[in-house]
Amino acid sequence: MIPEKQNKALDAWQISARYWDKYRVLIAQMFAPLTSGLVEEARIGTGQEVLDIGGGSGEPSLTISSIVGPTGSVMYTDPVAGMAETARAEAGRRGLTNIYFRQCSADDLPFADGTFDVAVSRLSAMFFVDPVTAVREALRVLREDGYVSFVVWGPKEANPFFSTVTDVIDRCVEFPPQDPDAPDAFRFAVPGKLAGILENADAKNVIERQLNFQIKAAISFEQFWQLRTEMSETLRQKMAGLAPAQLPTIEQAVANAARRYFEREQ
Ligand SMILES: C[S@@+](CC[C@H](N)C(=O)[O-])C[C@H]1O[C@@H](n2cnc3c(N)ncnc32)[C@H](O)[C@@H]1O
Repeated sequence: MIPEKQNKALDAWQISARYWDKYRVLIAQMFAPLTSGLVEEARIGTGQEVLDIGGGSGEPSLTISSIVGPTGSVMYTDPVAGMAETARAEAGRRGLTNIYFRQCSADDLPFADGTFDVAVSRLSAMFFVDPVTAVREALRVLREDGYVSFVVWGPKEANPFFSTVTDVIDRCVEFPPQDPDAPDAFRFAVPGKLAGILENADAKNVIERQLNFQIKAAISFEQFWQLRTEMSETLRQKMAGLAPAQLPTIEQAVANAARRYFEREQ
């Protein structure tokens, strides 16, 4: 039986699914450097069989599908039906025939030992219910000498995509302190935390790499505000705790904090 807390989290992702689909083009553009870093670290190439864990609206599965080509394959997984549906629909629109879809959680992968050459996960490991079991599962389903590559967010302070919004909201409303091990975007921001889990699970040659990149998209502040407040369950929850009269002031304060990121490049 799935614990209630976990069910609630998956329900929240089910609501998020429509927004991740709505903003799929922008997301693909903004997070493309993460996919490239992940593909590079996992040494993904033609003909490989790749597992994507927590594939959301379809990345990195969709990108990897063309890298591995017709002689390779991608197994997309995510526990949330809405996410899997939108990813499958997009693969259909693109006519991709080497992606397969399974709705499942990272801590209970329905695959035999040694099935894949590579396992990847972009921005999902922070939300796994049980990351220790999930890492063991990822290693179990890999062939000997396979690669696993997880992309997670580093410190929030280095991430204005998040902090320009949350810093303002957190100053306006008090929230109970959070358990640092609870599922959250910055759960693995502390250097060595995720690498430690991999090492404890007996992964060999564990490397932690800091990937510095800029999130770029040709959008206005208003579009950014809408995208951020719709896509994130944490923000949706925090905003729900605000009085409607506070919203314009908060949006203005975020606009001021974010102004320099929206100045046109000459
Ligand atoms: C931030 S999204 C990232 C999605 C996608 N990989 C991307 O980069 O666009 C996090 C994803 O983790 C998934 N997720 C949540 N709990 C999970 C679990 N226990 N196992 C696997 N994936 C999970 C969510 O459904 C969601 O699709």
